Amino acid sequence: MSFTIQDCDQGFTLVETESGQSMHSRIGAWKEAQDLYIAQSQLDHRLATQDSPLVIFDVGMGIAANALAALEIAQASSYPRTLKIVSFENRLDGIRTALNHPQHFPWLEKHRKKIELLLEYKSWSAPGVEWSLFDGNFFDELKSAHAPDLIFYDFYGPKTCPTLWGLNAFERLYLHCKDQHCLLITYSASTAVRSAMLLAGFEVGYGQPTSLKSESTLASSKALSLAHPLDPTWLEKLTRSNAVAPLDQPKKEAESWIQKIRSRPQFCRSLFNNRESDSSLQALDSNFQRRMR
Ligand SMILES: C[S@@+](CC[C@H](N)C(=O)[O-])C[C@H]1O[C@@H](n2cnc3c(N)ncnc32)[C@H](O)[C@@H]1O
Repeated sequence: MSFTIQDCDQGFTLVETESGQSMHSRIGAWKEAQDLYIAQSQLDHRLATQDSPLVIFDVGMGIAANALAALEIAQASSYPRTLKIVSFENRLDGIRTALNHPQHFPWLEKHRKKIELLLEYKSWSAPGVEWSLFDGNFFDELKSAHAPDLIFYDFYGPKTCPTLWGLNAFERLYLHCKDQHCLLITYSASTAVRSAMLLAGFEVGYGQPTSLKSESTLASSKALSLAHPLDPTWLEKLTRSNAVAPLDQPKKEAESWIQKIRSRPQFCRSLFNNRESDSSLQALDSNFQRRMR
């Protein structure tokens, strides 16, 4: 098992040699962390507005770009909230490889000492920040961790690791965080992934674009908490999609998945509230009827 270093638009990333799977998109690790996870979580605002600890699940720590980007925000100012980062990773040879190439990962090299301590003791702390590391499969380790406020969901892509993006995965995650007001952020905007999140119980919404993708995804454990929830237009596209079923579920049941998704509270609400979307509702109904025949 090994990694190779790959050039990005900004900086470098690691590619798992056997699978060919890259840890980051072409925009680069640090930029991706800033644009997708830090900006969308409004982390500085969250750290400033309460005093109970803020817990982030850093799911798929990789070479720790997302975790370190969060940590740098927390250390840039004296916020009332302590930031607790809980990282999960089942292949720590990735970050060890990156540490062996400081010229390619200067943003990581800056934090070498704390990463070495984290890898050795599985925890590291400083005033205002606590960082712990679970070394193993996220879904096995999950039950030992407190419920999070934020989840940076950053596994390899759904095509490579379908079970990590399936209904079973999101059901387990939803159960773990449903009593907390929790926001999940991910780069994936896949229809099948969004379907799985909805079916698991999350409210699901549109996330910001990056320079490479037109959308990302936000999911919340609480209803009515997303600024841009998926709406009847998305539902209408779903009825025309070939990728309705969650990736770990049988494809042939598409119609029954659509029915279940359609009855999720966020769509009942928007069907009820959005008078202006009547035309997309009609299109939705006729597509749905056509499929059901
Ligand atoms: C896309 S990379 C993450 C990049 C990372 N978030 C960063 O900021 O550099 C995905 C990571 O998830 C890890 N991973 C894959 N399956 C896992 C699992 N079941 N549990 C924990 N980590 C896993 C991989 O080893 C890989 O390091």
